[in-house]
Amino acid sequence: MITFEGVTKRYADGTVAVDDLSIEVPTGSITVFVGPSGCGKTTSLRMINRMIDPTDGRILLDDQDIRKIDPPTLRRGIGYVIQQAGLFPHRRIVDNIATVPYLLGWEKKKARGRAMELMERVGLDPKLASRYPFQLSGGQQQRVGVARALAADPPVLLMDEPFSAVDPVVRASLQEELLRLQAELHKTIVFVTHDIDEAIKLGDTVAVLRVGGKLAQFAGPATLLAEPADGFVEGFLGKDRGIRRLSFVPAADLEVREELGVPGWTLVLDDARRPLGWRAEGNGDGELHPFGAVDLGKDSLRAALDAALLAPSGCAVAVDGDGGFAGVVTREALDRALSRASGVGARG
Ligand SMILES: Nc1ncnc2c1ncn2[C@@H]1O[C@H](COP(=O)(O)OP(=O)(O)O)[C@@H](O)[C@H]1O
Ligand SMILES: [Mg+2]
Repeated sequence: MITFEGVTKRYADGTVAVDDLSIEVPTGSITVFVGPSGCGKTTSLRMINRMIDPTDGRILLDDQDIRKIDPPTLRRGIGYVIQQAGLFPHRRIVDNIATVPYLLGWEKKKARGRAMELMERVGLDPKLASRYPFQLSGGQQQRVGVARALAADPPVLLMDEPFSAVDPVVRASLQEELLRLQAELHKTIVFVTHDIDEAIKLGDTVAVLRVGGKLAQFAGPATLLAEPADGFVEGFLGKDRGIRRLSFVPAADLEVREELGVPGWTLVLDDARRPLGWRAEGNGDGELHPFGAVDLGKDSLRAALDAALLAPSGCAVAVDGDGGFAGVVTREALDRALSRASGVGARG
């Protein structure tokens, strides 16, 4: 756990970048610091690895005041990823990734072996190992940055807008990759972004900061969307809060009907009982219309609503993990679940 206790950073020119910040960053999950440019995100992050020292207050790492840990020792346990990856231009990719192991005095062969293993982990083709950074795309360079930060297997990872400079498609795949990695590695990650959608997608917990370095809200994404603390947070979250919140409500307790027919429509299955499409009543062997599927075991109410809206019957098709028919979710059942979701507080 990383604890900020009344942390303030006032720069020499009087700028207060972080103002009396007190939060607890839980171990083994992703905490996102989000807010507009200049709200003190980078300053907060760099105080964790002592690249910047607070003016007031203190930061504890697993209950130990980080001022009592010398910076090189502290940083050995903290990986750091920045926006432009910050790779060494004249070092091959494999050696960039092995930077910290080399510094720690690992044998070259072992360090390179570790680097190759990490390339695979972050989804990089091992053939890229002998290239130089300029020979990689922006997205690939960011993956190298993540691999390098993970090289010595630090328990803590600090990430400062690591995906901000790549295009939206690559960014989405980097986000997915980070979530996949985190599901295996369970690092304590502090992730900084100015993008609220990224914060909501990645964060187990989100700290929303406002300019002047003041904490506006510290909560899970579902709670942020359901109960923004004030007008600033609400404005920052933007439109469609209601529907975005449904992403955090499991579809699991939707009621399903096992019949294939609903008024006006019949669901057609293949031999393996996988849905093929909706057929309009009285249209014997006619056209199949699109259906939307939802896996109640893992999808959200938002996915269920989307599935219902895709189909002319207005019903979503519940499927099991293999895509097999599990039932029909009628508009009425969906409506009841939506009412329950807005009635009760969201989790997180
Ligand atoms: N070295 C510095 N000296 C003076 N002011 C600084 C310095 N670094 C950052 N600031 C100011 O502190 C505030 C917070 O900066 P920063 O932590 O970089 O914000 P963010 O990462 O959220 O954009 C900004 O007003 C910025 O101009
Ligand atoms: Mg910054």
